Amino acid sequence: MLVTLQKVLSMAEEGGYCIPAFNVYNMETAMGVIAAAEEAKAPIIMQVYPRLFAEKAGYYLAPVVVAAARQASVPVCFHLDHGPGELEVTRALRFGATGIMLDGSTLPFEENIALTGQVVKTCSYLGIGVEGELGHIGTVNDEGMDEFTCPEDAARFVKETGVSCLAVLVGNAHGRYKKPPKLDIERIAALREATGGLPLVLHGGSGIPDEEIRQAVAAGIRKMNVATDVCYAFLDRVHEELHDPKRSVAVDNFMKQPIEAVKQFCLTRIELVGAKGKAI
Ligand code: 13P
Repeated sequence: MLVTLQKVLSMAEEGGYCIPAFNVYNMETAMGVIAAAEEAKAPIIMQVYPRLFAEKAGYYLAPVVVAAARQASVPVCFHLDHGPGELEVTRALRFGATGIMLDGSTLPFEENIALTGQVVKTCSYLGIGVEGELGHIGTVNDEGMDEFTCPEDAARFVKETGVSCLAVLVGNAHGRYKKPPKLDIERIAALREATGGLPLVLHGGSGIPDEEIRQAVAAGIRKMNVATDVCYAFLDRVHEELHDPKRSVAVDNFMKQPIEAVKQFCLTRIELVGAKGKAI
């Protein structure tokens, strides 16, 4: 069933676990993600980068995600990931998104508060919650990612914007880590306390050691984003299939194994963050 961001976050909060948020790129990655959620009986988030909605692909992908979520037997939120401004947010809402991220993390603090607060207000008319970001989470190639999110700033940001959850910089980054990251678990706990127990979001979920993720969830992470490893699960199996002389050239049959690979990967993340069986 298609549900809002607030719905899955409140389920995670009540149960003390974390919702896995998988980025999807096409029908096949969406099929793998939904198959995993249904098998594991887990509430999940399917999220899409705004670039996909800016291209023609959005006209095909958005209805696929909405239909997949609607027919699923488990709660699924359709979320915009890293929306940079009101144009992208409006477009995602028109495409049927039930959760919005407004990423104003590269703006000066006051401007981030103003823009995020404005989007929270707009989305509230539709009953849709917003994820904000404070402390810019760059990529694994960026220098100077050591200015972790400040708890006092986070407290003010949350109070003034009214976000439903907050993405924080605590040693995480997007992409394939060159060496396993060490998350600042105490910082996560401090951010959680400073924001009055707001659900916190961990971006860059690909390649973080399992034990770090468990500790992060125990400290207050309630949504974990995974994108790069969804792509690798899919593409690695595509490569394998291409080298199999017995492969099918009918594209739908060819895609069955890559879809299965995405499903198997997602099952491991669902279990790790404690979401397995929580949709019952
Ligand atoms: P990864 O690509 O590192 O998994 O990060 C995903 C993410 O945070 C999407 O917003």
